[in-house]
Amino acid sequence: MTIVQQVAPKIPDVTEAWDLYSTLFADINVMAAQRHLMTADEFAAVYYDQRVLKFYVHDKNNALAGMSVLTQNLGAWPLISPPYFARRWPEHFARRAIWYVGFVGVAGRHVHGFRELIRNMYAHVIPDSGIAVMDFCTYNVTQRRLPDVTLKLLSWMNPAADMELADAQTFVVYRFDRSGEVT
Ligand SMILES: CC(C)(COP(=O)(O)OP(=O)(O)OC[C@H]1O[C@@H](n2cnc3c(N)ncnc32)[C@H](O)[C@@H]1OP(=O)(O)O)[C@@H](O)C(=O)NCCC(=O)NCCS
Repeated sequence: MTIVQQVAPKIPDVTEAWDLYSTLFADINVMAAQRHLMTADEFAAVYYDQRVLKFYVHDKNNALAGMSVLTQNLGAWPLISPPYFARRWPEHFARRAIWYVGFVGVAGRHVHGFRELIRNMYAHVIPDSGIAVMDFCTYNVTQRRLPDVTLKLLSWMNPAADMELADAQTFVVYRFDRSGEVT
């Protein structure tokens, strides 16, 4: 007789989750003008917020290797505008079928971690005929091509997966340090 042991998913405590998150997002935080690294207090608020779903992946030694967060309660995520989403997608908004991916982070050593987090998050979105919003900085778009990579992974889950640009923020620098160069 084979005994199949059910192993409950391991939920890290807030310190372990913060250690991974702050390490992963320190690098991207120097690549983007908009802050990509929450403070420890902001992170703890998200960690304990029941409206925000958390997803974890562990490596073969059972160490935490990746984490992502997802919410269908747009008011739960600071610095996004629920009225914007209500205007753009009123039908989805009315039935709470707009999901916001707060962040996704996977340690480089963990192969398939990103795929696993995407699969587990979008298992909530797809049956709902929902739409999901992810915010990518320019570096992740142009250098890492993350929107396209994510769409590839999603297409394997659901061949009808499609993507469109919702909005973009532009940071402009006005310079006054080149006056000597002007002819
Ligand atoms: C963003 C992040 C989660 C991506 O994870 P990653 O493992 O480095 O992702 P990769 O781009 O290497 O590839 C992800 C998957 O897509 C696959 N993939 C990549 N390019 C592909 C392509 N052109 N076609 C098909 N599949 C592709 C990879 O094979 C990989 O799948 P696998 O692991 O199952 O083999 C990780 O780099 C990270 O945590 N970065 C710091 C935080 C961050 O910037 N987060 C995003 C903004 S919130």
